[in-house]
Amino acid sequence: MKKDFLSITDIDEHELKNIVADAIRLKRLKSAGTAHELLRGKSLAMIFEKASTRTRVSFEVGMTDLGGHALFLNPQDMQLGRGEEVRDTARALARYVDAVMIRAYRHTSVEELARHSTVPVINGLSDAQHPCQVLADIMTLTERFGDLRDLKLTWVGDGNNVCNSWILSSPLTGMEIVVASPPDYRPDEALIDQARAAGGRVRIVTDPEEAVRDADVLYTDIWVSMGDEEERAERLKALRRYTIDARLLAQAPSDALVMHCLPAHRGEEIADDVIEGPQSIVWDQAENRLHAQKALLVRMIAGDAPIP
Ligand code: CP
Ligand code: NVA
Repeated sequence: MKKDFLSITDIDEHELKNIVADAIRLKRLKSAGTAHELLRGKSLAMIFEKASTRTRVSFEVGMTDLGGHALFLNPQDMQLGRGEEVRDTARALARYVDAVMIRAYRHTSVEELARHSTVPVINGLSDAQHPCQVLADIMTLTERFGDLRDLKLTWVGDGNNVCNSWILSSPLTGMEIVVASPPDYRPDEALIDQARAAGGRVRIVTDPEEAVRDADVLYTDIWVSMGDEEERAERLKALRRYTIDARLLAQAPSDALVMHCLPAHRGEEIADDVIEGPQSIVWDQAENRLHAQKALLVRMIAGDAPIP
């Protein structure tokens, strides 16, 4: 049966470990210049309702590295943009390609596409979740720490889609996720309950200084996500105490790492000297999108065959 990746919870702890191990192997193969065309002749359709730099390029280059092909599809140029239903698009695409990636405004569109597609569907970001980002970030932290169990990641700022995926990942990694955000910008309550019910450790607080004090990792993201543009002024006002700057970073252990899924808005959620500073690992995160998604694609399209 086909398997989708709409949420980080679509894989279990064991699958997560395997994908990360495969991703690290694929990264080595690429840097050694060793061909690894594990998806030769396979195609991935990529539907982007919203802008993207990293997701688009990493999936497209990933398919090329694997000997396959990726198609960039803008809904405005598809019949979707003229009212064709998602379920009909799903069934037609599945007759041509081996997997579909979609970046959508509404998570329900991603779910609907998956429901009607006979090939695997990957969530490339929705209003609710960004599982590919967190998958790559877990790879990045595994490279740094080895074992993630008992690490503490403090999210600072808007409790958004990326934050939701971190919360949902807690039962899979054993990491504690602490979210410091203003009360009106807290992450999805239902997802917090879901993570806790599965054994995840999640704490929601208001004070960023207290939250970073014993953190191993500080993580932030833009305050105005795609789709929230009309709320820009009120968001900037509500979140202004939540910048990861040198003053906040000084409250954290001196070896804490700083992460950001990018794109960054320097001077808003993160200060220029912090993102450029020695504790920042944001470019490793961006690179690992490529390797982690290649490992995911191989498992979803070619199955569990081991990567040499
Ligand atoms: N982090 C991330 O998904 O970046 P893009 O919006 O550039 O794809
Ligand atoms: N939270 C951001 C992430 C961008 C990769 C957004 O949804 O726009």
